[in-house]
Amino acid sequence: MSGAQIGVYGLGTMGSALALNIAGHGFDVAVSNRETDWIAPFLEEAGALAARLRGHDTLESLVADLKSPRVILFMIPSGAPMDAMVAAITPLLSPGDTVIDGGNANFHDTRRRAAALAEKDLHFVGLGVSGGEFGARNGPSMMMGGSDHSWQQLGPILRTIAAQYHGTPCVAHLGPDGAGHFVKTVHNGIEYADMQVIAELYSLLRNGAAMAPSEIGALFTAWDKGPLKSYLVEITARILGYSDPETGHPMVDVIKDAAGQKGTGRWTVIEALRMGQSASMIEAAVGARGWSSEKDTRQRAETILGGALGAFDGTPEVLAEAFLAARILCYAQGFRILAAASEEYDWSLDFAQIARIWRAGCIIRSALLDDIAEAFAGDMPEGQLILSPEFAQTLARTLPSLRQVVCSAFHGGHAVPCLSAGLAWYDSMRQGHGSANIIQAQRDVFGYHGFERLGQAGKHHGPWWE
Ligand code: 6PG
Repeated sequence: MSGAQIGVYGLGTMGSALALNIAGHGFDVAVSNRETDWIAPFLEEAGALAARLRGHDTLESLVADLKSPRVILFMIPSGAPMDAMVAAITPLLSPGDTVIDGGNANFHDTRRRAAALAEKDLHFVGLGVSGGEFGARNGPSMMMGGSDHSWQQLGPILRTIAAQYHGTPCVAHLGPDGAGHFVKTVHNGIEYADMQVIAELYSLLRNGAAMAPSEIGALFTAWDKGPLKSYLVEITARILGYSDPETGHPMVDVIKDAAGQKGTGRWTVIEALRMGQSASMIEAAVGARGWSSEKDTRQRAETILGGALGAFDGTPEVLAEAFLAARILCYAQGFRILAAASEEYDWSLDFAQIARIWRAGCIIRSALLDDIAEAFAGDMPEGQLILSPEFAQTLARTLPSLRQVVCSAFHGGHAVPCLSAGLAWYDSMRQGHGSANIIQAQRDVFGYHGFERLGQAGKHHGPWWE
């Protein structure tokens, strides 16, 4: 029997779904797992696909069963477990072999591992995989960072198993080392902001317009047929239609309002701030998850500070326009972070290509991404999405609605951290002359930091020292 084309180590939810997807497309897959007792049940449940799956109890036998140069995909927890596996597998490999981390890893770790393996003529790929279990099994969106050599090895498999958008596979080789994991991290940051915007709109309708979850669900279903069409809108509409089998209440009412987070949203914000970028909507979304988890404090505060909410004054049409504006602004912030990282790490990221591979398979897939891909392929002043002719026009149309929604929310005491952050960013960016001259003067007064004069190069100081 000749060697398998790829190894998959880690048979958790994502690893097993990917292994089945790969096998289902006619590739031979060698599989293994740290808990070896998972392997036999996995092969049993694979049914007819088991003919293409080869279980191994040890890393040694998995590696020995692979065609050369080898390709091994790890679907295991990121961080220390990945470092341990890299250390374990490295002595078993030969020059030209590729190790892939398909988890949500921090791209700094990916860069470090890629550099360490490159010294041994081994290749390390950071592969962002989006789409959850369903995507992994039926077609995920994948963001690959690594060498050209690895892309040659992997490309034929990844293109086949990826989600297809009108026949175009949603996978691309985006750049070297950490590029793929970085793009996946920002994808998740955008995901956080889009989810938070949806939650804010839901809350305005529920608490400010007294609409029932099922009515809001019907509105989201209608939105999912137009320019707001997206996976997150679709699943929100579905969620709002469910009742709790135990109590008969709307399902959404029995779920504790405390959001979890595994870290990719936070990483996006950390990296954005480190590069001097604004990702205020993503930061608002990460912050809002943090506040949400302080449930006890919020409950106490409600009794002390009062939790009364005023009526929300806005039609569903106004909300839809505000949503579209907010979604454009949140993607625009995400792409700005990508641009900054591309420059810092010399990745030459292709933004149109990134938008294209996000059009299907991933969690943030939306109708808007098709327009974004087109915008990046066309005229884009300053490389800023909000300045592309089409988006500038859409924003000019939708911004009054966003303004109306935020004003009404503020009046009624509704928290809309993400919507208002987007509006503040837009209003800051559309002023050629801002208020940072005051900041510069203050810095000069208390710290002699100096400032630039308008139209004059060099460092200047004010007369406050004379
Ligand atoms: C995806 C998702 C996936 C995962 C997130 C959830 O693209 O398929 O983003 O990666 O669901 O990591 O992240 P949080 O637990 O931080 O919400």
